[in-house]
Amino acid sequence: MNKRDFLKKSGIGALGLMAAPSVLHAKSTTSPDGKLRTAHIGVGNMGAEDLRDISSHAQVEVVALCDVDAINLSAARKLHPKARVFFDYRVLFEEMADEIDAVIVSTPDHTHAPASLLAMENNKHVYCQKPLTHYVSESRAMNTMAKEKGLITQMGIQVHSFYDYMLATLLIQDGIIGKVHTVHAWSPKNWGYDGAPPEGEDEVPPQVDWNLWLGTSAKRPYKEGYYHPGNWRKLVDYGCGTLGDMGVHIFDTPYNALNLDVPMTIKNECRAPNGYGFPVNNTVTYEFPGTKYTGKTLKWIWYDGPGMPKTHEDLILPGAKTTKKVDHKAQSMEELTSLEAKAMEEGQLPEQGAMFIGTKGRLLLPHFMQLPRKIKNGKYVDISKDIERLTEKYNLSEPSRNYAADAPKHYHQFVDACLGKDKCSAPFSYAARLTETILLGVIAGRFPNQTLHWDAENAKFAEEEANQYLAGDYRDF
Ligand SMILES: NC(=O)c1ccc[n+]([C@@H]2O[C@H](COP(=O)([O-])OP(=O)(O)OC[C@H]3O[C@@H](n4cnc5c(N)ncnc54)[C@H](O)[C@@H]3O)[C@@H](O)[C@H]2O)c1
Repeated sequence: MNKRDFLKKSGIGALGLMAAPSVLHAKSTTSPDGKLRTAHIGVGNMGAEDLRDISSHAQVEVVALCDVDAINLSAARKLHPKARVFFDYRVLFEEMADEIDAVIVSTPDHTHAPASLLAMENNKHVYCQKPLTHYVSESRAMNTMAKEKGLITQMGIQVHSFYDYMLATLLIQDGIIGKVHTVHAWSPKNWGYDGAPPEGEDEVPPQVDWNLWLGTSAKRPYKEGYYHPGNWRKLVDYGCGTLGDMGVHIFDTPYNALNLDVPMTIKNECRAPNGYGFPVNNTVTYEFPGTKYTGKTLKWIWYDGPGMPKTHEDLILPGAKTTKKVDHKAQSMEELTSLEAKAMEEGQLPEQGAMFIGTKGRLLLPHFMQLPRKIKNGKYVDISKDIERLTEKYNLSEPSRNYAADAPKHYHQFVDACLGKDKCSAPFSYAARLTETILLGVIAGRFPNQTLHWDAENAKFAEEEANQYLAGDYRDF
């Protein structure tokens, strides 16, 4: 079955998806019944979660759905039969920019900026998945445009609005471990690929528009299992590796808590670049200028890939003699959290997380849905009174310890902010700095074991050869 036949059969082809452009750069409007009218770009996998959690807000009306995969588009349309559907986000804006108030971008990373910038050009508020962009230049452009246009923005780091992360921020800023001089953060996930590019070409599945999927990025022959869905994360042309994936979540709390700006130096210990996939294992060391919560400077070490983190004395937990391992497979998030909490009592480091090292002890922040733990002189310290005090003082709502119940908070905060009733906690002004930091570590992977020096004011490296990776050539598509 060819693409045209597939589209006909699925009923999507009959909807005028590729209709000719009409109105460009229409102004954002407000819905007559006070509802926020949303358009969703990318509605499979995380996009489906984003669609569910945005549309669970009583004052949202989903008016447009866009995906380059007709199967995903069809599934979303079943849930929102009144919404118009599109394959190409450019056509979406041409056709109905004046009927949309906010846009949710949940595509692979390389399409975040092209789609979000077009949305903002059309004066739409934007919720964009993490990492904010694929290139440093794009993060800066998105921040600038959002600011100039006074738009409401939020990056999709939903755990930012979870209790334990907000609490950890308050504990650090309250001085629970004194001034922080080092942070270790780790994830053993493997969004790297050390192999050669695949040979040959597979037929593009009939439901996928491969040209639109590639968008502004490099053209590559379609190959099953390498790109769509999900595996694009491993590839330099489309994703940002494990650092860009899990790093954004795990960096977020320390970044926020320590009020960090972008780093001064970055070094990535990893294999030599191969121009195709990100290294499977990365150890990235950053040095940041000091803030009121840190020493004169702050050292930050990120470990990713299978086997990470490597043993470091800062990461040894009280009672760490156990050989018991938590089986991370086939567990619900809630079961895993409770197994990890028990294993932590016996000295096992949580699978993913961050450890802050300060002048008055260490603070362990597991990723995620677990309380931060203070460690001093090799022992856990009871900080329940501090937790109670800060929870009360800042009116934090108690955690449900249920992901599905807590995740919508971040999305609803965005909707409420668009409706003038709240403020976003991860706007692009914050997200752009955090993403820039992450992307600098990703670029450092092109220069293994070399320290790069970042000039934030002029947005360039002292090492001239690294500057070519700050922006990309957009392909016409
Ligand atoms: N916040 C989180 O916890 C979280 C979790 C997972 C993924 N993500 C982020 O969400 C984004 C998507 O990740 P995923 O795992 O769902 O990827 P995926 O490849 O599984 O799904 C992407 C979806 O976007 C569609 N798409 C691709 N290109 C498009 C385009 N040009 N226009 C419209 N639709 C397009 C695909 O067909 C698919 O439906 C990524 O940026 C990822 O980092 C965030």
